[in-house]
Amino acid sequence: MKSLNYTKSLIVIILVSVFIMNSNISKAANTDDEKISIIPKPLHLKVLEGNFTITNKTKIISSKELIGTADYLSSLLSKALDGEIEIADTEFLSVNNISLIIDKNISGDEEYNLLIENNKILISGKTERGIFYGIQTLRQMLPAAIESSSINLSKIQVKNVSINDKPQYKYRGMHLDVGRHLFSVDFIKKYIDLIAMHKMNVFHWHLTEDQGWRIEIKKYSKLTEVGSIRAETIIGKQTNDNKNYDGKVYGGYYTQQDIKEIVAYAQQQFVEIIPEIEMPGHSLAALASYPWLGCEDKDYKVGTKWGVYDDVYCPSEKTFKFLEDVIDEVVELFPSKYIHIGGDECPKKAWKESKLAQDLIKKEGLKDEHELQSYFITRMEKYINNKGKQIIGWDEILEGGLAPNATVMSWRGESGGIEAAEQNHYVVMTPGNYCYFDHYQSKKKKKEPLAIGGYTPVKEVYEYNPIPEKLSKDKAKYILGAQANVWTEYITTSEQVEYMILPRMSALSEVLWTPEEGKNWGDFKKRMNVFKKRYDALGLNYAKHMF
Ligand code: ACM
Repeated sequence: MKSLNYTKSLIVIILVSVFIMNSNISKAANTDDEKISIIPKPLHLKVLEGNFTITNKTKIISSKELIGTADYLSSLLSKALDGEIEIADTEFLSVNNISLIIDKNISGDEEYNLLIENNKILISGKTERGIFYGIQTLRQMLPAAIESSSINLSKIQVKNVSINDKPQYKYRGMHLDVGRHLFSVDFIKKYIDLIAMHKMNVFHWHLTEDQGWRIEIKKYSKLTEVGSIRAETIIGKQTNDNKNYDGKVYGGYYTQQDIKEIVAYAQQQFVEIIPEIEMPGHSLAALASYPWLGCEDKDYKVGTKWGVYDDVYCPSEKTFKFLEDVIDEVVELFPSKYIHIGGDECPKKAWKESKLAQDLIKKEGLKDEHELQSYFITRMEKYINNKGKQIIGWDEILEGGLAPNATVMSWRGESGGIEAAEQNHYVVMTPGNYCYFDHYQSKKKKKEPLAIGGYTPVKEVYEYNPIPEKLSKDKAKYILGAQANVWTEYITTSEQVEYMILPRMSALSEVLWTPEEGKNWGDFKKRMNVFKKRYDALGLNYAKHMF
């Protein structure tokens, strides 16, 4: 008897303890999940009394024109809930709906209102893009676990709120170099997902490099047959004395079909893909494919080490015809307003030694090779403008005179951006100190994966203000925004890309979305402690220094 009573008491104690533990766990989870913790921080957010409960009976109400975005929301919710979330085009019942509404009274194309009340959710925007950003905010009000495919909730409670939100900058970009190392189509899509989740809107796809040409061009098949493959790759840090190579063939490229698929994928998430076709420098892979593109009669080989090569496009009529043909195919693939033409790090040695280049300098009345570079870019700009597109180039395109309509990407600090804006040219800021995500993010470099150098911790990124202090006030309007650059000499896997961009990308998203006066590092850190659960649920490999 005694022992039975003892066993009974023990069972009761265990059950009570398990109950208390469980209720603590769910309470903790609820507290965190309910905390309104959005990255990037919304402009105006008011918490209201009460909650809305999403269940598998909740309907999305959307007109036909918004069906793509309604589908996106439906898959997001259906992944988490026990059942499909239906989309309807009229309100059968005025309760338990999430309505997507175009509201022409909202002023900005990227602005949205999100109203969550006890019995309904309204997401409105002037455009579908605005509504999409409202959905991204709603997404962050749902438990992080919805990001993983292995969850089946019967209901999700969201706090009632009223949010009005819009971005500070028009251009909010992420770049990725696929020339040095290549990443799968699936990873490129994941990269686009991350851009969209952070309400960023540009993917700058760096497609051609000395070490590999990565875009199929039907008219010039050797670009991929030859130019996409390098014989081997330097091991470890690039130095003049490093003669250590891995002896392994490395290569690959994106077919036009891959590109179409990726562009369509990005369009659904309102991400513009800006393709970069580098000229006149960083072109060794093209020269290896078609040696007549170079100034010298020699056997060019696709680059196997990092750094800047002297082998650049010769400014011949044959080269211009080739580049125009390439652009013809590129503009058909990418609907973006911009084509990035590179323009950085073009050594002038080959042109100094080339009769053709020197004759052209004389014929065109140019002062030197810098003016020849300007002639090169201006000529390509004219061609690209005639196709209805604008060019962007790295800040070296200022040297020898800026092409008339060019937008400048300021990477060697902010001075190129300032100079361009003072000349009334649009600018995207990507200064190394704040925006180079190939830099180390910790001072303990030995504990980090090998990187190109530098030190750009997440706090530094967060503190960046894209409007330079030195810029005159009336020229600030020329700063379109900023972008992080991810050069991949030392980034060989997609996991490493994730490690280098996260959480720095989250910091940059807030720099670009939230007004300077609304930013607060301490508050950002707190919100990141919640946001990182989303990284975890998405299975992302992020850097942990800030947590
Ligand atoms: C660059 O980092 N060379 C633009």
